Amino acid sequence: MERNLVLFGPPGAGKGTQAVWLARTWRIAHISTGALLRDEIKAGTALGREVKSVIDRGALIDDGVITKIVGERLQRRDAQAGFLLDGFPRTLTQARSLDDFVAVRAPLVVVELVVPEEVIVRRLAARMICSECGTNAPEESGSSDEREAATCHNCGGALVPRADDAEHVVRKRLEVYRLQTEPLVGYYGSRPTFCRVDGDQLADRVTAAIVGAVDRACGLSAISPPPSPPDR
Ligand code: AP5
Ligand code: MG
Repeated sequence: MERNLVLFGPPGAGKGTQAVWLARTWRIAHISTGALLRDEIKAGTALGREVKSVIDRGALIDDGVITKIVGERLQRRDAQAGFLLDGFPRTLTQARSLDDFVAVRAPLVVVELVVPEEVIVRRLAARMICSECGTNAPEESGSSDEREAATCHNCGGALVPRADDAEHVVRKRLEVYRLQTEPLVGYYGSRPTFCRVDGDQLADRVTAAIVGAVDRACGLSAISPPPSPPDR
């Protein structure tokens, strides 16, 4: 069964947290446009130099640039059995391009993660990421002093705040989300494969809610047993 998922929601909604586990469980490609762009910045490529200032001020990368990256990524072999898009589409233009990309594939299942803004601002003020591999540090890594001294559970790299998590940039990202990305609810909302999940609960519960919603949307509820809780 080919699962082609779009996980969308505001900055800090938990898209990346959920995507890692879901993609591993369903053996589908996790495509995070934010992570792809941060990799370009870290590698110092021409694209990385072009997008850095845009990301640092909380704005969106040009539709043509990001759409080309995603179009190419979706053609790679590991995305043929299904994919989970995390952070794409973010505009109506991107959403229309995505429909073109998947016209001959299984229908998109679109999951909107809903989280109140004050929760998001709190989450992103506390987030630390690995300076080497970009992984989020787990939330339960202690006080801020302990978190600064801690290292990445994945590769041992130093933990640092994410460059675009300064509060004024988070506020800008939220505004951009409201103006440019939230209208996608209108674009996708009437499709039978659109679902909305409460993202303001424990991560494991969010995962279970997404799995249930996706299975129902794929018509699998009768044959797919509930997965065991994620090992985080
Ligand atoms: P991107 O990297 O996609 O950032 P974002 O959408 O702003 O979202 P985040 O990655 O900050 O949050 P998330 O929803 O993944 O949450 P996470 O799981 O990390 O994009 C960055 C930039 O790239 C954009 O601003 C733009 O400039 C550019 N860009 C990317 N895609 C683009 C596109 N398509 N078009 C144009 N430009 C594009 O969780 C956040 C924190 O909360 C973590 O600390 C986590 O541990 C914690 N957390 C997660 N779940 C829970 C929970 N249930 N309870 C408590 N804490 C939780
Ligand atoms: Mg993310």
